[in-house]
Amino acid sequence: MCGIVGYIGFEDVKEIILGGLEKLEYRGYDSAGIAIENNDNMYICKEKGRIAQLRESIDKNITGTIGIGHTRWATHGIPNKINSHPHQSYTKRFTLVHNGIIENEDELRKKYLNNTKFTSDTDTEVIVQLIEKFVNDGESVELAIRHTMSELEGSYALAILDKTDTDTIYAAKNKTPLLAGKGEGFNMVGSDAMAMINHTNQFYEIEDREFLKITKDNIEIYTIYGNKVTREPYIADIDSSDIEKGTYPHYMMKEIEEQPFVMRKIMSEYSDEKGNMKISPEIIQNVRECDKLYIIACGTSYHAGLIGKQFFEKIAGKPTEVIIASEFIYNMPLLSENPLFMFISQSGETADSRAVLVKVKEMGYKTLTLTNVKGSTLSREADSTLLLYAGPEIAVASTKAYTAQIAVLAILAASVNNKINIDIFKELSKIAYTMETLCDDKDNYKALAEKYLQNSRNCFYIGRSMDYFICLEASLKLKEISYIQTEGFAAGELKHGTIALIEDNTPVIAIITQENINLNTRSNIKEVKARGAATMVISMRKFSQETDQIVIDDVNELLSPLATIIPAQYLAYYAALLKGCDIDKPRNLAKSVTVE
Ligand code: G6P
Repeated sequence: MCGIVGYIGFEDVKEIILGGLEKLEYRGYDSAGIAIENNDNMYICKEKGRIAQLRESIDKNITGTIGIGHTRWATHGIPNKINSHPHQSYTKRFTLVHNGIIENEDELRKKYLNNTKFTSDTDTEVIVQLIEKFVNDGESVELAIRHTMSELEGSYALAILDKTDTDTIYAAKNKTPLLAGKGEGFNMVGSDAMAMINHTNQFYEIEDREFLKITKDNIEIYTIYGNKVTREPYIADIDSSDIEKGTYPHYMMKEIEEQPFVMRKIMSEYSDEKGNMKISPEIIQNVRECDKLYIIACGTSYHAGLIGKQFFEKIAGKPTEVIIASEFIYNMPLLSENPLFMFISQSGETADSRAVLVKVKEMGYKTLTLTNVKGSTLSREADSTLLLYAGPEIAVASTKAYTAQIAVLAILAASVNNKINIDIFKELSKIAYTMETLCDDKDNYKALAEKYLQNSRNCFYIGRSMDYFICLEASLKLKEISYIQTEGFAAGELKHGTIALIEDNTPVIAIITQENINLNTRSNIKEVKARGAATMVISMRKFSQETDQIVIDDVNELLSPLATIIPAQYLAYYAALLKGCDIDKPRNLAKSVTVE
């Protein structure tokens, strides 16, 4: 879950690498480093902390036209200067950045590197030391890198410099994302397209266990066995202005406010010229034909999956199970006879989800990915893909990708049952409008965050049925960016244990958007109030009460999560802002988790 970027060409590399790393900071931001070949010297600068700190430390006079950089989310070894990448081999001939985890590092140290003096606590250093060892044993650089790849167990995206050859960046990939960017008189390599989009929009996808030789004029792709691969680049449909913050104080605020637009974009992408829903007939047929749908996802995407289950069961009549990817892989449920596996992943790169995809493909099952990133690993490897069209999401806390996932799931479920009497597009249009109205009420959310959350240690969200699933996502948003310990509970379950935690002024936020549970949840509010809780209610207008703090215009109850989540996202945003937290880059987290 680190980000890597490399450039070789004619411009000064410093700013290109730093700019690329800034775009990759969502992948990890506890330390960073850069290597630049400068007049036969390898200049290396590393810093604990953000790219901004690295920028401060870099020698402004260093120039060069070939370099690599890294932003880190620590797995092996604490985040400090020594453990930051790039790492170098013992003679300092090779310099390398790595994203991933090497699982057999101990065996490799014992087998090949007993006499090598290591300087860091990282698994990465084993890779660079091995390359040097194999070269010193007489192998060519290319062979030594491919030999090293064949010894490594685990995941890696690598960019490697050789001090004796200033015309080449070597790169390699296994189970961790990597793209090569094609330019005019320059070429690049990076963890994602955003790191390179200011320079090129043409990219080569790289497959697992492939090896790259990149010069300023050529990108050569080889298999691990040294066979040359012929592949055409693709053009990425990303506007570099999509990844700028503009006048917004934070990406999260920008992304919250883009949600009405995303709803409309999804409707236009998934409709034909007559305005009817348009989804690949093959995908619809696969959902219709399976006897059970298994939704696999992590984090926020898992929460979207819980809502998707309601759509597939209530709209499409298809039994559905939603399973956390990291649980499925080691504790597989008893599967139905003819399952369809659906992967929901904003990034399309999450290692836990990918591990399940690889496994169920081996078992011969059909697969479908819902992702925001065209060409991502989960998209490439599944039988078919539905795109989310949310545009790049930069803030670590997912907002617009979550509502995009829910909207696409609703359109798919409705396409599977074309006899339903809900006009999904009409309802989604109403949702988009309601989202706008909710975004206009920011001052209210800020005041509520001040009153209820600013000085709180913990908080509870309660709700039933569809509202319960929103409680799970709302509590994840609040805890991940404000660090207030927050849990989402099925309101009826509170009295079976958790109510013991309610003290004077414990904030309890109730969500009520379903008519059939309105009175039940209202009773639960009274129960916690009687025990001292400070209660806040988010309700739908048709059964709201005068004292409810946030009222949402009436929308279809099944689709209400798309509206309810907006105030919850803002409450999290303002709680984090009031507490002085780093909203877009919360501590310990990364947006794209490419390690299991
Ligand atoms: C990370 C992010 C979460 C995200 C989860 C799944 O943990 O911090 O925000 O929900 O990964 O990511 P995916 O890209 O698969 O949706």
